Amino acid sequence: MQTIRGRLTAWYSAALALTLAAFAAVLYLDRRSASYQDLDQRMRSEASLTAGILAESYRARGVLVRADTAGRPVLIPDVAALLEAVPEILIVTARDGSLLFASSDARALTFQQVEQLRRIATAPGSGQPPGSFRIEPDGPTIRYAVRYLTDAGPQFGAILAGANVRSAELGPDQLLSTFALVLPFGVAVALLMGSWISRRALGPVDQIITEVREITDGRSLHRRLAEPLVKDELGRLAETLNQMMTRLERSFAALRRFTADASHELKTPLTVLRAGVERAITTPNLPQDTLATLEETLQEIKRMTELVEALLTLARADEGIAPLHREPVDLRGIVEEARETGELLAEEAGVQMEVTTPADPVVVSVDATRIRQLILNLLTNAVKYTPAGGSVRLQLGPANGKLTLSVADTGIGIAPGDLPHIFDRFWRADSARTRTGERPGAGLGLAICKWIAEAHGGRIDVVSRPGRGTTFIVTLPWEAPAAKS
Ligand SMILES: Nc1ncnc2c1ncn2[C@@H]1O[C@H](COP(=O)(O)OP(=O)(O)OP(=O)(O)O)[C@@H](O)[C@H]1O
Ligand SMILES: [Mg+2]
Repeated sequence: MQTIRGRLTAWYSAALALTLAAFAAVLYLDRRSASYQDLDQRMRSEASLTAGILAESYRARGVLVRADTAGRPVLIPDVAALLEAVPEILIVTARDGSLLFASSDARALTFQQVEQLRRIATAPGSGQPPGSFRIEPDGPTIRYAVRYLTDAGPQFGAILAGANVRSAELGPDQLLSTFALVLPFGVAVALLMGSWISRRALGPVDQIITEVREITDGRSLHRRLAEPLVKDELGRLAETLNQMMTRLERSFAALRRFTADASHELKTPLTVLRAGVERAITTPNLPQDTLATLEETLQEIKRMTELVEALLTLARADEGIAPLHREPVDLRGIVEEARETGELLAEEAGVQMEVTTPADPVVVSVDATRIRQLILNLLTNAVKYTPAGGSVRLQLGPANGKLTLSVADTGIGIAPGDLPHIFDRFWRADSARTRTGERPGAGLGLAICKWIAEAHGGRIDVVSRPGRGTTFIVTLPWEAPAAKS
């Protein structure tokens, strides 16, 4: 069973079924013992009633016993008729132990069976309390009470009143059928209630799971789970998770702060270095190798400055303090500017470059510097990863109420397995890494492009086939100007 809810329901139902069974058993045993007591009480009263009748008759008539035709002592018919009214088994014995009277129920038994009862009645000490006796060989079990007769003349011995215990027992079939009726109903109710209770109890857990799932990255860490007012287990769980998120948020913030501070602090010394090297390079009559070294150094300083700039941009973006200075501009202007830089790069690399812009102005409210940076990053990549002889196409155009800006090249392409990573920071494909000298870079360009596109409410997608080329498509929201009528 996959869910706690399912397990709880099963356990709950099993527990309830067991409780029901135990309850039924206790009820059954209790009822049985109560009806045994009732039966004993009845037997005692029947014995007393008989004793009363006999004593009364003795007082009225004197002799109650006479000899029958076979010469055996029996009760006189009048008194015997009176005793016939007493239900169930009734046996009256003479003082010498012989049988004086047997009720009709007793007479229905065989001679041996009546003999067994008579022996009980005459056995010394079988008076109190009432007992049970199973008539052999396979007769019924009876519950009986014995009473000695003292005030009905010298002839009388004891009275035994007995009844089949069956009359006091709930039959097992009866119990089983009642139980079979009640149990499925009970279990059905338990299942319903169990599932309802567990759904209610575990509902908040599902909610916590959903809320925690929504906190996907460092940027959504400021979110908190709704903490219930009642500080039960789930309340405390939500509280603990929230505390954990606070700590995580702090660590993330510290990390970002560090990157931002470090890159910021590096900017000034780099500027000083650059100025120094630039000045040194202009010194007249420098030896050739010193000049070469200085140029190389200057190149590295430029690269490092770019890297520090990129890091600072990303750190600020993460901190949410890289504001966009949006103003309406014609994107064609920005594309034209980028084209100039791109063409220089392309020419150097021996790559053809083609730029297509629409005839009408494309005015959007964007941060022009950032968009220029975005286009330049994409163009630089396209030229960098396209071997000489290839071509790069930059296209700007409205499509389906949006604005698309695509940079397509016929370069080395990106392996499908690499595609999910290219927007990650510091990620570079192996093919790019192995020839660092040839294709220098830090792996931050696309991460910045992605941030710029998303900060403008747009997105960036990529389509690529290794060896055939790559196309980056930036989509920006755009309100097309109302069609001129
Ligand atoms: N047009 C492209 N064709 C083929 N691979 C590309 C292209 N653009 C990006 N890539 C791959 O994606 C990786 C990441 O690109 P990204 O622009 O982020 O870094 P970079 O160009 O290596 O370095 P940086 O831009 O920081 O100088 C590149 O290293 C390269 O492997
Ligand atoms: Mg790049």
